Amino acid sequence: MSGKFIVFEGIDGSGKGTIISEIRKFLVEKGIFENQILITAEPTNGFYGKKVRELLNTHVNPDVNAQQFLNLYVADREEHLGKEIIPALKKGKIILCDRYKYSTFVYQLIQGIELEKIIELHNGMAVPDLIFVLDLPVDVALQRIDSDSKRSVKEVFEKKEFLEKVRQEFLSLKEIFPEENIRIVDASKKIDEVTEEIVNILWKKIKEL
Ligand code: TYD
Repeated sequence: MSGKFIVFEGIDGSGKGTIISEIRKFLVEKGIFENQILITAEPTNGFYGKKVRELLNTHVNPDVNAQQFLNLYVADREEHLGKEIIPALKKGKIILCDRYKYSTFVYQLIQGIELEKIIELHNGMAVPDLIFVLDLPVDVALQRIDSDSKRSVKEVFEKKEFLEKVRQEFLSLKEIFPEENIRIVDASKKIDEVTEEIVNILWKKIKEL
C-alpha cells in the first residue's frame, strides 16, 4: 500500500480535530498499525507556526497583517512538507492533516492577497490524494467554539462576518482547483454520520495501490 495524503479543511469550529481522531480509530480498527498513521496540523508547532499563533492573538484587524500572515503560513508549510509530510509519504504512511494550502487560498485571499500571488507561492507543493471540506453554518460553528472552554478567547479569524466569507470561499475552492480531489461534506450532522460519510470515501482511496 502506498502512502496517502489526506487533508481536512473547514471554518473554525467545523470539528476537524474530532473527526480526525474518529477516523484514526476507524483505521486502527481496520488493522492499520498506529505507526503507519501520521496525524498532523497547520499551523504546526514549528518556528513559523509559533509566530503565526502569536499574530493570531494580537486582535488587530486581520487585513493589516495580511502579508505577514501569508509569509508565515507558507514558510510553515514548506517546513511541514520537508520535515514531516514527504518523509511520511515515502514510508507509506496515511497522513491525516488538519488544514493545508486551501486555508491560505481562503483566509489570506479574504485578507486581500492576490490569488496569483498565492498560486505562485504554492507552485510544486504536494497535492493531497483527498481533501475534505467540512461545511456547516457559521452560527453552528460559533456555538461549538463558545462551548469549548479551552477556546474562550476568540482569535482574529473567529468573528462571524469574517467566517461567513470564509465559508463561501471554502465552497468555491473547486473552481480554483478543478483537478484536485476536493469533497464537500455536511459537517452540521452528528459526528458519527460525518465520520461515516468520510470513511466510506477514504477507505476506497486507501485500498487503491
Ligand atoms: P487552527 O490551528 O485550525 O486553529 P485552532 O488550533 O485555533 O483551532 O488555525 C488557526 C487559524 O489560522 C485559523 O483561524 C485558520 C488560520 N489559517 C490561515 O489563515 N491560513 C492558513 O494557511 C492556515 C493553515 C490557517
